[in-house]
Amino acid sequence: MDAFGRKIDYLRISVTDRCNERCVYCLPEGYRGWQPRAEHLEVAELEQLARVATELGVRKFRLTGGEPLLRRDLPEIVSAIAKLPGVESLGLSTNGTRLASCAGSLRLAGLRTVNVSLDALNPAVYRRITGGNPQAALDGVRAALAAGFECVKLNCVLMRGVNEAEIWPLVLYAGELGVPLRLIELMPVTTSTVLDESNFLPVSEAMQRLGERDELVALPERHFGWGPARYYRLRHTGAVVGFIGALTTPHFCDTCNKMRLTADGKIRPCLGDHGELDLRPSLRQVRSDDAVREMLLLAMARKPREHQFRNQYQPCRPMTAIGG
Ligand code: 5AD
Ligand code: SF4
Repeated sequence: MDAFGRKIDYLRISVTDRCNERCVYCLPEGYRGWQPRAEHLEVAELEQLARVATELGVRKFRLTGGEPLLRRDLPEIVSAIAKLPGVESLGLSTNGTRLASCAGSLRLAGLRTVNVSLDALNPAVYRRITGGNPQAALDGVRAALAAGFECVKLNCVLMRGVNEAEIWPLVLYAGELGVPLRLIELMPVTTSTVLDESNFLPVSEAMQRLGERDELVALPERHFGWGPARYYRLRHTGAVVGFIGALTTPHFCDTCNKMRLTADGKIRPCLGDHGELDLRPSLRQVRSDDAVREMLLLAMARKPREHQFRNQYQPCRPMTAIGG
């Protein structure tokens, strides 16, 4: 439990700050702040941390980055965490571009769910946002479906004037594949030109526009697991769409159940608050479960009531360094 009575049962673990894409909302242009690899937690350190976290009631883990598939030892990280007693869910958030070749082995290692970022289907729009090519990500989605994960989801960050026209094609694509599409409000986590107010598209507006094309039927709360999305089924197309309105949904943080771990071993109780605690000395030098437990409990106790995104939040570490 944190200081506001929220049960913290979800930990997002970033395994690297590196990425092979350059999303405008994640990386400042020309970013050069990459951490040396030696700063990143190793498999045994991640395993110890996850084990102690499960002893404190964490039930769901998600591996993020940067791009987690750039870690060559990702299958070992997956199997180390998957084996721990008490783990009820183990997911991966990826841009999907390297997923086609390794989806099967990750599934075998014990990975259970995969979220793929997909902000556009149109190659020019996708390139403008990520610098890359959507075909690689689409191949990754197909491979994930073929590998038999318990759940595959698509994530799209909403940007007015950038990918608005992509929303409906993405809904149809998700509907065809039978996977949920989540529409995410842009959060000011990185200094970037796209983070101008004029690029902000509230989920209410996306919902209204989808409502003009199809009827949205609300699905029960807590659908598809532990996340913050509110899900709807489109009656005619059959697609399932989730809305994540971190900035405009009142009381968004009241049900927050997660903390983050950065690749360099800092626990960040809230994405939208600069407070971090350094766990790495407990894992690397002290190497005692007690020290790790103490830090995790302290981080839970310090988890703020809500994010600071509405209060002139000044981005500091970019998203890629914090973990998506
Ligand atoms: N605002 C909203 N979502 C973001 N993501 C990365 N940066 C931002 C941002 N500034 C999303 C990615 C990915 C997920 C892990 O986080 O698109 O789907
Ligand atoms: Fe890479 Fe994800 Fe950041 Fe895009 S959002 S640059 S895919 S880490």
